[in-house]
Amino acid sequence: MIKLKELLREGQIQLKDQSPSAAEDCEILLGQILSKNSAWLITHGDRLITSEQTLAFRAHLQRRSAGEPVAYIIGQRAFWEHHFEVNPSVLIPRPESEILVELVVQIVSEQAFTSESQSIADLGTGSGAIAISLAHELPQTDIIAVDVSVDALAVARRNADNIGVTNITFIESDWFSQLDEQRFSIIVTNPPYIATDDPHLARGDLRFEPIDALTAGPEGIDDIHKIVNQSKAYLQPLGHLLVEHGFEQGAAVRKLFSDAGFKDIATHRDIAGLERVSCGSIG
Ligand SMILES: C[S@@+](CC[C@H](N)C(=O)[O-])C[C@H]1O[C@@H](n2cnc3c(N)ncnc32)[C@H](O)[C@@H]1O
Repeated sequence: MIKLKELLREGQIQLKDQSPSAAEDCEILLGQILSKNSAWLITHGDRLITSEQTLAFRAHLQRRSAGEPVAYIIGQRAFWEHHFEVNPSVLIPRPESEILVELVVQIVSEQAFTSESQSIADLGTGSGAIAISLAHELPQTDIIAVDVSVDALAVARRNADNIGVTNITFIESDWFSQLDEQRFSIIVTNPPYIATDDPHLARGDLRFEPIDALTAGPEGIDDIHKIVNQSKAYLQPLGHLLVEHGFEQGAAVRKLFSDAGFKDIATHRDIAGLERVSCGSIG
């Protein structure tokens, strides 16, 4: 048997050269094994850990030392108000994508008195983090969540079931290709937006995430280009399109919106002050 604080210290030493967040990683990894949060771990440093739990923690450390993201090791990631199952077939949801949820909730609440029912499409739903958070926040809306990856859709469906939302339909589709004649009041998307030769793809967590969820052509803008060009045909009058993009893509994305005839084009910054989400509406 070993004391909890000694095990955490062992983990931090093992991860210090591999992870920029070694202390936090260790707390999350051990916390998952003990089913406790970080605050509990900090206040129970003298608690004795069983050899079975110690072995499980060391196995986690081994995987983290090899670079595997903490979210894949523990099989979940927090986003907005819930924990979402994740595995290597889905992107790990990022905190900056919560801006999309915030903006859509704001648009729907502003339109609450002018429209009877709102329909929302989430393109490239991955784990379902955005669509499910919206479905939970806006139970009166109908949400269509699209992905080209069957494996990602299976994860998203499980997340919807576990969280208990029922106002989402999941569709396997290459962007709009399987969406018939539907028109939405809002289309929201966090598409792939990294350039195919971006050196970051060979570093950190990105190495483990599905490449089809990350890259979109030589400038990283090919999927955004397709979505912006096709969206007008799938939006209701006064409908909105919201697109997450790379922090250096704001100007290019605003031009795509403008070339496609969108109005009220604006870009919102993330918590780090970087251009992250562009929006536009149609007349
Ligand atoms: C950056 S991930 C976003 C996942 C999730 N929305 C999130 O924010 O965590 C992009 C998603 O788009 C999906 N995707 C890529 N190409 C697609 C296409 N042609 N049609 C539909 N979905 C696509 C990927 O499978 C992936 O799940």
